[in-house]
Amino acid sequence: MFELRDRDGFGRLGRLTTPHGLVETPALLPVVHPDPGRQGIPPGELFDRFGVRMAITSSYLLYRDPGLRARAEELGLHRFLGFPGALMTDSGAFQQHSEGTVAVTPEEILRFQSRVGSDVATVLDIFGEPQDPWDRARFAVEETLRRAREARELRSGSLLAVPVQGGLHPDLRARSARESAPWSDIQAVGGIVPLLERYRFRELVQVLAAVRPHLAPEKPVHLFGVGHPMLFALGALWGGDLFDSASYHKFALRDTLLFPEGSLPLSEVQEEVCGCALCREVPLNELSRRPVEERQLHLARHNLDQCLREIARVRQAIRDGTLWELAERRAGGHPALYEALEATHAAGPLFLPVEPYSRRTFRFVSPLSLSRPALLRWTRGLERYGRERSPRHRIRARPLSPEALQSAPPLGPEGPEDPTLWVVPTALGEVPLELTEVYPIGPSLLPAAPRGEPGSPPAAPPGPDEASLRAEAWTRRHVAGLVEWVWGRELRERLAKERLRPVHSRATGRLRRVLKDGVSVLEVGLDGLPHLTFQGGTFLRARLPYPTGRVVASEEASAFVAEGRSLFSRHVREADPQLVPGSPVLVVDASDRLLAVGRALLASTEMARWQRGPAVRVSAHAPPPGSEGPDTSK
Ligand code: GUN
Ligand code: ZN
Repeated sequence: MFELRDRDGFGRLGRLTTPHGLVETPALLPVVHPDPGRQGIPPGELFDRFGVRMAITSSYLLYRDPGLRARAEELGLHRFLGFPGALMTDSGAFQQHSEGTVAVTPEEILRFQSRVGSDVATVLDIFGEPQDPWDRARFAVEETLRRAREARELRSGSLLAVPVQGGLHPDLRARSARESAPWSDIQAVGGIVPLLERYRFRELVQVLAAVRPHLAPEKPVHLFGVGHPMLFALGALWGGDLFDSASYHKFALRDTLLFPEGSLPLSEVQEEVCGCALCREVPLNELSRRPVEERQLHLARHNLDQCLREIARVRQAIRDGTLWELAERRAGGHPALYEALEATHAAGPLFLPVEPYSRRTFRFVSPLSLSRPALLRWTRGLERYGRERSPRHRIRARPLSPEALQSAPPLGPEGPEDPTLWVVPTALGEVPLELTEVYPIGPSLLPAAPRGEPGSPPAAPPGPDEASLRAEAWTRRHVAGLVEWVWGRELRERLAKERLRPVHSRATGRLRRVLKDGVSVLEVGLDGLPHLTFQGGTFLRARLPYPTGRVVASEEASAFVAEGRSLFSRHVREADPQLVPGSPVLVVDASDRLLAVGRALLASTEMARWQRGPAVRVSAHAPPPGSEGPDTSK
C-alpha cells in the first residue's frame, strides 16, 4: 500500500494506495472542519480546484455533535463532507491537549471512524506534552501502545495510524516508534504541536532524530500539525510523508499571508508581493478593504496555494537530489529554523545509511552546506584513504585528462612503494588529485578554496617520452584511487598487478571506462564514480570477499534477475551492510554465483523490509547459458 519512487535524505517520493485513490507523497492533508458552518474553503473545492487528493478531519468533533454525527453515519464521511478523495480522521487526542479531556472511549471512537468509512483511522492516543516528566510520558506511550493493539482488531476497512508519543524523552520516543510499528499502517509523530506553536524547532529535530531510526522504513510517516510551508522541506528531509495542518485557515483568520520564506501580516503589505492566480484576481492592496469574510477566505486560498506549491517543490527536490539545498534555503526564514537545520546537520551520522552514492551536483547554498552528510561521508572516506600516506604535497588542480596529466609531477609505480599524496586545496579541504572528479567534489558549485600556501612549484617541463609516462602513471593512479574509494584498499592492491586499460573521452578528455582484455569492466559516470558492467561484476566477484558489494537474491527470484529484471525488495536474502542508495551492486544467488549487476535503490538496512517495489535496478545480466561471453573472472 506504500511504494517508494525516489528519495533524498530520509525524504521519499512515495505512492500511498487508499480505498479512495492514490496519493502522491509527500502530501499536505488540509484540515477540514466537520461542521460545514465552520469550513472556510469547501472540501469539494479542495479536490476540484486545488487538486488535493487527501484531507483530514476530526472524528471526535463530528462524533460529539449529535446532529452531524447522525448525518455522517447515514451518508458516510465522503458524501457528508463532499470530498471524493482519501480521508484520514483524527481521534480526539488533540482535544485532550487543547481542552484537557476527551469524552469518548478509545473503542468507541475507533469503531466510529471505521463506521463512517474513514480511509485512515487514528488510534485515540494520550497526548504527551513537552513538559511531561518521564513517568507521565511513559504512561502516554504505554497506554497508546495498548490501545493500538486493541485497535488493530477493531478497525475494519480503514488503514490504521498509530501516534508516536514520548514527549521530549528520546528513549521513550524511540520505544514508542519501535513498538508501535507492528500495529501501524501509518506511523504518526504526535505531541509536537506545542513545539511548533512556540517555534521550538530545534527540539522538534531532537524528537525526529530520536524517532527516525526506530520507525519502520517501509511505512508512511505522518507529522501531526506540521503545516507552515517553511517547515515542509525540513519535515520531508527527516522522512515525513504526510503533513496535516489547519495553518492555512488559522493564519487567514489572523489576516496573515503564508509563504515558504515565512509569514507576513496583510497590514504590512504595501506592494504586490504575490503573483499567485488568486492574488492576481484580487490584488493584496485591495484585499484589505474587502469585507472580513471574503478577505479571510481569499487569504485561506492564497495560504493553501502556497502550501501546495511548496509541497510540490519538495517533491521536485527529492527527484533532483536537492532536498538538503531546499531545506538550507528555507532555514533563512527564521533563526529558530536555522538552529533546527544546524541540529539536523549535526545528526549527519544518522543519515549516512541512506545518503546516496552520488547526486547530479553538490551546490553550496549556505555555510551549513559544508556539513551535509555527503561531506561527512567524504571526510570519513578521506581519512581512510589518506591513512598512512604521507608526506603530502600541495599542487594545483587540473583536469584528469591524459593531456593535462603530462605536466603533473612525476609519480612512482602504482602500489605501496609510492607513499606520496598530491593534494589540491578546495573549499572542502585538501583532496588527492586523483579524486577531484568524484562526487561531491567533481560535480560541484562551491566558493573558491581559501588561500593557503601556494602549491609546489610546477615540476620542470618533461620531455615528450617522460610526459606520456607521467600521464600513464597518473591515469593508473586515478583508476586505482576510484577502486579504493568504492571497494577499499585491498582491492586496489590486488588490482595493481592486473593489466587494465583506461579509455578517455576524445571530446572531453574525461576517463570514461576501464577495459580488461579489451572488455569494459568499469564505466565512469558524470559523478566521477565507477559503475559496473556485467563483465566488471564477474571480475570483481572473484576478487571481493563475500559479502562485499553483494545483494543475495532468493531462489525464486534468481532466474528472473538473471534475465535482467529488477530484484524486488522482498526477494533480498542478504546484503552488504555498506550499500547505500545508488551503490553499484553485484546480485548473486545463495551460492555466490553472479546473476546481474545494477544499482541499489534502497539502503541495505531497508532491503527485504519493503513489501513492494525493487531493491536493485539491474543494468546488465548474465549471458544466456551456451552463449559464453568473454571470461573476465581470471
Ligand atoms: N494532532 C496534533 N497532534 C496530535 C497528536 O499528538 N495526536 C493526535 N491524535 N492528533 C494530533
Ligand atoms: Zn497569493
